[in-house]
Amino acid sequence: MGRFELREELRAIYGAGADGQTTRYNAALDRFRDRYGPGPVHIFRAPGRVNLIGEHTDYNHGYVLPVALDRDVLLLARPRSDGQVRLANVEDDFEARSFAISSAIPAAPAGDWSNYARGPAQELTRLRSTGSVQVLGASVPGFDGLASAAPPFGVPRGAGVSSSSALTVAMAVAFAHFAGWEWEGAEMARLCSDAEWYVGTRGGIMDQFIALLAERGHALFLDCRPDADGNFRTRPIPLPAGYRLLVMDSGVRHTNTRNEFNQRVAACRAGVALLRQEMPGITHLRDVENIEWATLESQLPEAVSVAALRAEGLELGDLPNVPDDAPLRVRACCRHVWTENRRVLETLDGLGSGDIRRVGSLLDAAHASAAEDYRISTTELDALTVAAREVDGVTGARLTGAGWGGCVIALVPEGQVAEFTGHVGRVYTRETGREATIFPCSAGPGAGLVAVAEV
Ligand code: GLA
Repeated sequence: MGRFELREELRAIYGAGADGQTTRYNAALDRFRDRYGPGPVHIFRAPGRVNLIGEHTDYNHGYVLPVALDRDVLLLARPRSDGQVRLANVEDDFEARSFAISSAIPAAPAGDWSNYARGPAQELTRLRSTGSVQVLGASVPGFDGLASAAPPFGVPRGAGVSSSSALTVAMAVAFAHFAGWEWEGAEMARLCSDAEWYVGTRGGIMDQFIALLAERGHALFLDCRPDADGNFRTRPIPLPAGYRLLVMDSGVRHTNTRNEFNQRVAACRAGVALLRQEMPGITHLRDVENIEWATLESQLPEAVSVAALRAEGLELGDLPNVPDDAPLRVRACCRHVWTENRRVLETLDGLGSGDIRRVGSLLDAAHASAAEDYRISTTELDALTVAAREVDGVTGARLTGAGWGGCVIALVPEGQVAEFTGHVGRVYTRETGREATIFPCSAGPGAGLVAVAEV
């Protein structure tokens, strides 16, 4: 036990895993004091996630079923009164940064980690009226901050488990706390999602919602289509008893995904733009969920470019890094989204009735669709799914997150976890020459203030 007795707070978050966290929290608090001096420190945290099913559906207003990890980003912070933000990180490859808060904060170069603080700071200053606060505006204070997300407790970086959203959410929660905004989860999730657009990826809202609304032991069903009042339908879904959700990190890190990602978004938007010629009311692929695929398919070309669409008078909106002449695989991408939405709803049924075999085959079908139609898998991810399915009782496996590397998940019977880990690890190394990191997802709670400590 270190100097800071956070036993109760840590148990509430990490359950049985709390003991191992004490050293990590204490080391971060010591580091904070060394850097910024003695005094009170607020400790915030935000978790990473896996997604059970529903990939690349969120920005199409579809359905998702993510689960928070108990691996998280910690942000230790102390407010400042001069509107400055100073950032440091326990990992030395994230260099110290500082910026001034305003309603138009200049972005640092792409890839700079301070953008994940600049985005939410700017969004908060622009927030003028919410349910709980009328004018936040200029009153967002800066802080001295220290982020901690190093292995083994931090959210692995670039592994498709949402380390960047966790960082954004932790920053946003800290800014909001010091501004006195008592946020409500969905409202904050929307703000954080806008904050990530600041970074350039045109992602959806899944990662921010699960980081904020997660409940222990549960996945979160989220319908990404807002209702007329801008509210989203969410429902905690218990994870199946007798199974562990295992995460297999391929060790392959995606690079340059922003461009690939935005091209998939473009393909979906192209599909909507083309379908709208016959169905003027639609705005997202979700709008055609009840129309037979064969009918839709006949209206969607295999591929089309932004330039060709423009020549027909169709614009796709603001999408950084999508070359005008890149072939957008409209038909296959739309098919993935259309079928994936159905699979999410069927998975809910399967979980509700305890039919884990059915859930497993839906995970398999989702992986095939992500690999063949959306083309976001890699040989390493495919190898992990194949190895996972070889273990007795494992009914399905799929890549999770944006793709192009990162992690695969599988539901594994509790009694098979040791065999699973050994088998998948061995086969993966034999097939790819790489090491997989395999760990259980313990479905932790959402982001927030953990405690205030005196250093
Ligand atoms: C990334 C995005 C999410 C979602 C997933 C794919 O994580 O940030 O919004 O689109 O990819 O499902």
